[in-house]
Amino acid sequence: MSISKAEYARRRKELMAQMEPNSIAIVPSAKEKIRSRDTHYSYRQDSDVHYLSGFDEPEVVLVLIPGRAHGEFVIFCRERDKAKEIWDGYRAGPEGACKIHGADDAFPIDDIDEILPGLIEGRERVYYALGRDIEFDTQVMGWINRIRAKVRSGATPPGEFLDLNHFLHDMRLFKSAAEIRLMAKSAEIAAQAHCRAMRYCAPGVYEYQLEAEIQHEFAMNGARFPAYNSIVGGGANGCILHYIDNNQVLRDGDLVLIDAGCEYEYYASDITRTFPVNGVFSREQKALYEVVLDAQAAAIAAVKPGNHWNEPHDAAVRVLTEGLVRHGLLQGEVEQLIAAEAYRPFYMHRTGHWLGMDVHDVGDYKVHGQWRVFEPGMVLTVEPGLYVAPDNEQVAKKWCGIGIRIEDDVVVTKDGCDVLTAGVPKTVAEIEALMATARRGAKSA
Ligand code: GLY
Ligand code: MN
Ligand code: MN
Repeated sequence: MSISKAEYARRRKELMAQMEPNSIAIVPSAKEKIRSRDTHYSYRQDSDVHYLSGFDEPEVVLVLIPGRAHGEFVIFCRERDKAKEIWDGYRAGPEGACKIHGADDAFPIDDIDEILPGLIEGRERVYYALGRDIEFDTQVMGWINRIRAKVRSGATPPGEFLDLNHFLHDMRLFKSAAEIRLMAKSAEIAAQAHCRAMRYCAPGVYEYQLEAEIQHEFAMNGARFPAYNSIVGGGANGCILHYIDNNQVLRDGDLVLIDAGCEYEYYASDITRTFPVNGVFSREQKALYEVVLDAQAAAIAAVKPGNHWNEPHDAAVRVLTEGLVRHGLLQGEVEQLIAAEAYRPFYMHRTGHWLGMDVHDVGDYKVHGQWRVFEPGMVLTVEPGLYVAPDNEQVAKKWCGIGIRIEDDVVVTKDGCDVLTAGVPKTVAEIEALMATARRGAKSA
């Protein structure tokens, strides 16, 4: 299961159709990054480069030149090199760039300074994402200045820099059928990983051990890497939104919050579940959990074509505020509390984000100053939560240190949305039943 060559070609064609006449687009690959001395982080291609080509090597530059007689799609990449390939693996080389990745023309990356200025010269506009890679920005400016230096010999430098992201990221916001299939698979693997963590969980287990169970399930199913650093927070660590230390022991009577998703064929999933370490929710945990669950249901119901981006958030905020009042954590009239954002000490983040090749995916949330309206093919997360700080003196002690988030991935359909991550339980009864089965299994083993 992956994206076909025809789909990559269709994406390039669609992007080029939106570019101004007589223009050129330059899209550089991600850089390799050192982790320590001479060892690198695992390489991950830039999402835009992958989206337009599926070419996942470092040191690649994609160039799109609509209307160029000798070919509209040019790639610069590393040359083949027998000795280097013995150490570091296969390289496509310029020939492979044409044969495998659909380039009309391809050149060695070492020749880019000689060749690219000639391709830019005479084009009026350059599409390039300035400010993402300062080193590459300098290189681009160097090419432009070389053309400028030759104006007296008749060279015409481009007069305008334009943002490629505007078109490209709008295209990425709408997922094709093939992309949704990959996202569903990514979601399914992550859902199974969360189930595995629930089954393995018990008092005395370390947070990193649950992380390891999750990582195992990801990798065993073809998703070698998480889409972001997994969050496994026991007790009050669940109130730290980006907790990634994951080094504490899980205690009887606490909840554990796991926010973990994988990357499958470049597509991210992003799931959060919160469950009791010992398999049974306490009265207070259950009360707040069900408020969050109801808020999530209300938010998911608001994801449908015609509704705008903020409607799920508004729906979640209303249910959370009502719940906080019902359980005595806030006092007052719901409308006024919402208007005053009284919920913010307990709910300080947004209810979701676009999801795709990047976990916080590209795409505008507002268009011409108005919240974006949902359309089929958009994928987003729905992730309300409640976090009662351990030192909150405004509420009864029994609530303090409870942190809960429930997060699913949904795709907008013709008349609503589909939940891609439904494979992991989220009602109190379902979670307790799954964990009870696991405990029974452990006893009889
Ligand atoms: N895991 C990152 C997020 O939920 O936004
Ligand atoms: Mn998320
Ligand atoms: Mn998340």
